[in-house]
Amino acid sequence: MHLIFESVKKIFNRSMNNIKLCIFDLDGVIVDTAKFHFLAWKELAKDFGFDLNKKDNEKLKGVSRVESLKLILKWAGVMKNEDEQKILTDRKNEHYVKLIQSLKPDDVFPGVLDFISELKQNHIKCSIGSASKNTALILEKLQITNLFDYVVDGNMTTNSKPHPEVFLKSCEALDINPKDTVVFEDAAKGIDAAIAGGMYAIGIGNEDELSHADIVIPGLENFHLKDLSRLNNKTDYQNKLN
Ligand code: BG6
Ligand code: MG
Repeated sequence: MHLIFESVKKIFNRSMNNIKLCIFDLDGVIVDTAKFHFLAWKELAKDFGFDLNKKDNEKLKGVSRVESLKLILKWAGVMKNEDEQKILTDRKNEHYVKLIQSLKPDDVFPGVLDFISELKQNHIKCSIGSASKNTALILEKLQITNLFDYVVDGNMTTNSKPHPEVFLKSCEALDINPKDTVVFEDAAKGIDAAIAGGMYAIGIGNEDELSHADIVIPGLENFHLKDLSRLNNKTDYQNKLN
């Protein structure tokens, strides 16, 4: 009991000066690709008579390609075997990849480049933790590949968020303790993954959907390193450890 109390106390007393790594989810944090995923899934779902709406599409945020298809098939009440699923995910991806060809450097969300530049000036490492197997292509289109010290994408992981693997891999590669790491995520499952990995979690987007994050912000515009000190005031780490 005493040991548990001590470890909780250590986390409470953690200072923001300790932050050594910021991990960014890609889709929805760095760039708005959700609209392209939506179009591509909607088109595909039409083929089996299902009309995917925006509300259901929200539930696909952070979910891997194959898991997204499984959810859509479930909502549509349609059964497909593994071979058929592979054909469908390939077709969806072909369409999606065509759509993201239009991405350009201007599409990076406001504030992202300034914030990363501030992190670099303060010797804080930056990495990507994304479920997307198209991460490399998107970073290249946005011309920001070189900004990151490490990139973990859907090709490198076996477990989907809310499993913390996609974030822990960056910590391992850069030899940084998860407790000195902050994750920026727009998906509820991504926040769960950060918490499961013992990292701070900053939600980007809607407070109601991301209420389990340490703090929630609308985006990185006008967000600065000093704002991370708000994490020091959080007192709910004990809940995370339970
Ligand atoms: C996540 C997106 O980042 O990547 C999901 O939020 C998407 O919507 C998942 O399904 C996998 O992406 P991709 O590019 O590998 O199909
Ligand atoms: Mg996302």
